[in-house]
Amino acid sequence: MIRYNYYGHSCFSLETGHGVILVDPFFTDNPKTKVKAEDVKCQYILVSHAHFDHLGDAAVIAKNNDATIIAVPEVLSLCKGVKTCPMNIGGSMSFPFGMVRMTLAVHSSGVAGGIACGYVIVLKDGPTVYYAGDTALFTDMKIIGAKERIDYAILPIGDNYTMGKEDAARAAQFLNAHNVIPVHYNTWPSIEQDPYEFKEMAEKLAMVDVHVVNPDTSIELK
Ligand code: NI
Ligand code: MN
Repeated sequence: MIRYNYYGHSCFSLETGHGVILVDPFFTDNPKTKVKAEDVKCQYILVSHAHFDHLGDAAVIAKNNDATIIAVPEVLSLCKGVKTCPMNIGGSMSFPFGMVRMTLAVHSSGVAGGIACGYVIVLKDGPTVYYAGDTALFTDMKIIGAKERIDYAILPIGDNYTMGKEDAARAAQFLNAHNVIPVHYNTWPSIEQDPYEFKEMAEKLAMVDVHVVNPDTSIELK
């Protein structure tokens, strides 16, 4: 059983039988969560890019947990004195919990020379999860969906800094995803969205089930 814990914005964790994977650990100054960075337990931290709302508390949480941060080298250069695992776009690596492939994202990186990314996570004894990171819609999402059966696509819908709900619905279609979880919305007024409008849109356009998860709650991924 895989548990998806959502902390608002694009911060979530996947609790697997082989450890906890924390993604884009934005706790401090995240208005959507009551959880404090110092209370978070994990073994791995995936960071999509260096903007403050994604890199967040990665270094502190890695230090507290002796966890490994996985990101591009330029993002890792901002995380001193912790265990790191550099990857780059198109590369895959095996971990105790399964396989991770770093994928393209169309977005700025927040650190000189860096590149923003997404992740395909093929969980051992569990579903395959694609986290798009911060990105615009791009047609190569079709390749991501052709390579792996995407059981859950975690997609930004907030607009302004990333795709909005119409493009995210199109992304679900490109990915041929089975389930979609929206993220990166309603954290601030600039990314205000109705996730239920997105749900209606995406379910009409693509053969997907959209799961709207409230901050500081969790769902089981099947
Ligand atoms: Ni960003
Ligand atoms: Mn962002």
